[in-house]
Amino acid sequence: MCGIIGYIGNENAVPIILEGLKKLEYRGYDSAGIAVMNKDGFAVAKQKGRLSALEAFIESHPLTGFAGIGHTRWATHGEPSDINSHPHLGSRNKIAIVHNGIIENYRQLKERLEQRGITFVSQTDSEVIAQLAEYYYNGDIMDTVIRVVNALEGSYALGIMSLDEPDKLIAVKKDNPLIIGVSEKGNFIASDVPAVLAHTNQVFYLNDKEIAVVTGDSVQFYNTDREPLQKTLETVTWSADSAEKGGYEHFMLKEIMEQPQILQDTINSALSGGDNKLIIDSLDINRFNKIVITACGSAYNAGMVAKYVFEPLCRLPVEVELASEFRYKDAIIDQNTLVILVSQSGETADTIAAMREAKRKGAVTLSIVNVVGSTIARETDYTLYTLAGPEIAVATTKAFSAQLVLLYILAVRFAAKRGRISPPKEKQLLAAIASLPGKVATLLKQTDSIQKYASTCVGYKSIFFIGRNIDYAIAMEGSLKLKEISYIHSEAYAGGELKHGTISLVEEDTLVVAISCCERLYDKINSNVEQVISRGAKVLFIGNCIKATPNEKLAIIELPEANELFSPSLSVIVLQLFSYYVAANKGLDIDKPRNLAKSVTVE
Ligand code: M6R
Repeated sequence: MCGIIGYIGNENAVPIILEGLKKLEYRGYDSAGIAVMNKDGFAVAKQKGRLSALEAFIESHPLTGFAGIGHTRWATHGEPSDINSHPHLGSRNKIAIVHNGIIENYRQLKERLEQRGITFVSQTDSEVIAQLAEYYYNGDIMDTVIRVVNALEGSYALGIMSLDEPDKLIAVKKDNPLIIGVSEKGNFIASDVPAVLAHTNQVFYLNDKEIAVVTGDSVQFYNTDREPLQKTLETVTWSADSAEKGGYEHFMLKEIMEQPQILQDTINSALSGGDNKLIIDSLDINRFNKIVITACGSAYNAGMVAKYVFEPLCRLPVEVELASEFRYKDAIIDQNTLVILVSQSGETADTIAAMREAKRKGAVTLSIVNVVGSTIARETDYTLYTLAGPEIAVATTKAFSAQLVLLYILAVRFAAKRGRISPPKEKQLLAAIASLPGKVATLLKQTDSIQKYASTCVGYKSIFFIGRNIDYAIAMEGSLKLKEISYIHSEAYAGGELKHGTISLVEEDTLVVAISCCERLYDKINSNVEQVISRGAKVLFIGNCIKATPNEKLAIIELPEANELFSPSLSVIVLQLFSYYVAANKGLDIDKPRNLAKSVTVE
């Protein structure tokens, strides 16, 4: 939530910062702003709304500067408005800051500063940082930042500039991500790697309360006792192209289409060599008597699918918990519990809190993460990486699919280590997983029927998703995807639950999407389908074991044959495309749905 970027070097900072903000807009898009330093002082431009509004403003009110900071906002304190946009300046216009996070004690700090005659102009928590920094400033920005950091409670990633020390940018973070990019033409601070990829793949990952002093040709790190720190410069393997749309209208469609390759890369890393395989091979599953999977949103749904794979294969209890609940529930876990954290960003505040709670209770933690160097990846005992590359669309697709295959492979390998499946069975199951990229590629060649059907669905006020067993778990993801980007109300139900309440919502021309990849349960889900049709519903039936015949109330999308345990990797492709095309037909801003942000770094 919120993206920040800073640049200092020998080029005009304005276009560089605007380009960087474009790459960060997925983190928040309520407003955007930029402040640059030049010989006249700070030049600031801020605009409510999308980044395009800021660009248009700068077009008509040009500014230049050799160093600057920019911000794209997801509002927490104070409505989206020009005045609440970042950067924020102290009242003497000497210090400018951009902030991602929440300052929990901002009211107390604000009151103290107001008592000393300082006037605030915004309703944000962030302005207190600029005002406090200016209040403390004694000619030494490092010293000032240390005092500010010691006064703040909450979470922050900060970019700070002082007019009196124009040769440097300061970066510091706690519980929100920040990287430092290093290049020939200058140096960067940023919330995320895609913001700097056009300029460099050489980055430092900042840890909590480490302070970076960034000049045009150097970067130095200190702790809050002002002691110098040695950090390792890392090479990012993501290409600059991977953060571009590549000719697609939306990142979401591009990312859906990338899935065969991503599945292939992720499966290879876990089966044929590479760090994922080493970690999976080294894990001693026999020491655990329980697995807890905890995550948010789609990552939680991946955990729900995984439960239906782990339990029958490993015969080990698997609990799946929303991270936002797990962190407060006093979970019954100990050193014999394996807690699996699933997160694309590796920065989701609730998942981080759940991870820390699990560690506090002595559980062993394993994360499945997409972003290298992210907090969850760094703090868990073991990390498996999904090789999905940068995922820009707010609605996750390719990272979710990559999470699924890693979870399947873990389940199969654990089952083998626990002696629950024979070596030939393990081989057969791994071969079934290895066949998924080809099947997904086949499905992605047949998008026409999904697109056509979706074009008839834009008028629905509500759409239900049903399935049984593992099909129910993936129905949850289908429902989330639809509501997230199309703004159509949607719920997922286990088919058997319909008659316990939900069926009262079914009326003439309600749409029900039913999933059927569990052949042994086909008759059960089919009778749910008949029940809703007989009450007037229309049904989109998606599966690979459907025996019904299409009619005016029943449309069918056939999936390739697949082992039931791994079939969600196929049904989810249709569900993603369905949601995408419904939203596209409604003309919505698919990559940046309202009120959402890609990386939910606040609670
Ligand atoms: O980065 P994470 O995987 O931890 O994010 C978790 C959720 O915020 C995320 O999956 C969200 O639900 C997606 N926007 C769904 O498409």
